[in-house]
Amino acid sequence: MADNDSRAGARYADPDILAWTDARHAGLDPALARAFEAPGNEDMPAIQVGRSEGRLLHLLMRLVGARKVIEVGTLAGFSAVHLARGLAPDGHLWTLEFEPKHARVARANLAAAGLSDRVTVVEGDAVATLPTLEPLGPFDAVFIDADKGRYDAYGAWAAANLRRGGLLLADNAYFFGKLLDPARAEAAAVRRLHEQVGAHFDSVCIPTPDGLLLGIRR
Ligand code: SAH
Ligand code: DHB
Ligand code: MG
Repeated sequence: MADNDSRAGARYADPDILAWTDARHAGLDPALARAFEAPGNEDMPAIQVGRSEGRLLHLLMRLVGARKVIEVGTLAGFSAVHLARGLAPDGHLWTLEFEPKHARVARANLAAAGLSDRVTVVEGDAVATLPTLEPLGPFDAVFIDADKGRYDAYGAWAAANLRRGGLLLADNAYFFGKLLDPARAEAAAVRRLHEQVGAHFDSVCIPTPDGLLLGIRR
């Protein structure tokens, strides 16, 4: 029926429903709560993924049996805790962050979560650090959540460094609702990521509040 289209979430979800369902499916234990609240407490931008997106990242790592995972854009480590907890027992997450303060806060949050040995916070511009990680690949999943103007470059890196069946994930796939704005250069980079992933992966753009792109490498 016409109502059952991809805009349905925008009309049916309301804050009370989201709070009720989050409480049942996306609860925050102390380590997750600490990482979720850190941006607000540490004078950092509060731009971490939402609770249910974080939970989804965690479950996807388990579904794909992830052993080697890359995250581009750490912030305070909220999504990193979710990703790392979904790793296979011998797995490892490399999470890339160029703001020294963010890297420091994230390392403290990952230590508090007992994940220091399973996560490496790689400090520096991802454009420079990603090539240094290539010898560790191929990877089981790559989660892109940093500078939107380079989403196309990060997507190309992921396509070249994921195993077959590996997952490409990207937050803000609607580019803050400006994806189709012809005046925004960054929007064009996010659109190019969609074009690449749509052409070369089995893919979907999940209608989270700002879109979560998911592709399985062929
Ligand atoms: N994934 C995190 C949120 C990341 S916010 C979470 O959900 O918890 C985006 C982060 O990317 C910011 O901390 C920002 O400093 C970082 N960043 C932006 N451009 C970057 C770049 N070129 N290289 C590395 N990190 C970058
Ligand atoms: C911003 C970045 C993000 O990754 C996000 O999810 C929300 C906002 C930002 O740069 O403003
Ligand atoms: Mg984001």
